[in-house]
Amino acid sequence: MIDLCIFGSPRKNHNTMKLVNAIKSDIEKINLVDKRVKPCRGCLACYKDGHCIIKDDFDEIIKKVEMADRLVIASPVYFNSVSGILKNFIDRLQSQYAKKVILGQEIKGKDIFIVMSAGSNLSDDIKKSIEVQLNLVVKVLGGKEPNCFFMENLDNVSFDNQISNWKQKNDIIFKLFSIS
Ligand SMILES: Cc1cc2nc3c(=O)[nH]c(=O)nc-3n(C[C@H](O)[C@H](O)[C@H](O)COP(=O)(O)O)c2cc1C
Repeated sequence: MIDLCIFGSPRKNHNTMKLVNAIKSDIEKINLVDKRVKPCRGCLACYKDGHCIIKDDFDEIIKKVEMADRLVIASPVYFNSVSGILKNFIDRLQSQYAKKVILGQEIKGKDIFIVMSAGSNLSDDIKKSIEVQLNLVVKVLGGKEPNCFFMENLDNVSFDNQISNWKQKNDIIFKLFSIS
């Protein structure tokens, strides 16, 4: 079972990282902040063969993503969405869209979990809107339904003061990750 985390917080040791580590401390993480992932140019060259022509770290990352059986995509909530570094990576997934939808190639199925930390309490509308955005990402990467897990209100209640309640409320993710 290959587990991988695409880590989209620019802060490596704060709320989002603590949350990922609480779920599976030894999961391999790709810290997007350390990688060179340039913005999608919208050239659609990937429609030819499913590969992005931009020369940077995306190719190496997507190879690992393709091989994973379980993928965690982690981000802080920024302006009711994902972080900029994660959005940049997501736009580059147009090459995966090309593979799957335009070229009809098989994409290995996987379980995908979205893990996000937020400073405030998020309304149901905001959570729904994030889920809708990430639903397409999950489908393009070979996942089924987006499993979204939010730790909220971190501006007021610290991670350490929330984690035990959060674990109880979100025990499904721990059950799934105890299987290896
Ligand atoms: C640029 C920026 C935008 C943010 N936007 C939101 C937001 O829209 N809603 C929210 O609840 N928290 C927002 N926050 C707070 C972060 O989501 C929160 O502090 C998160 O836990 C940070 O994760 P980190 O500790 O991994 O950096 C924002 C923080 C920053 C820096």
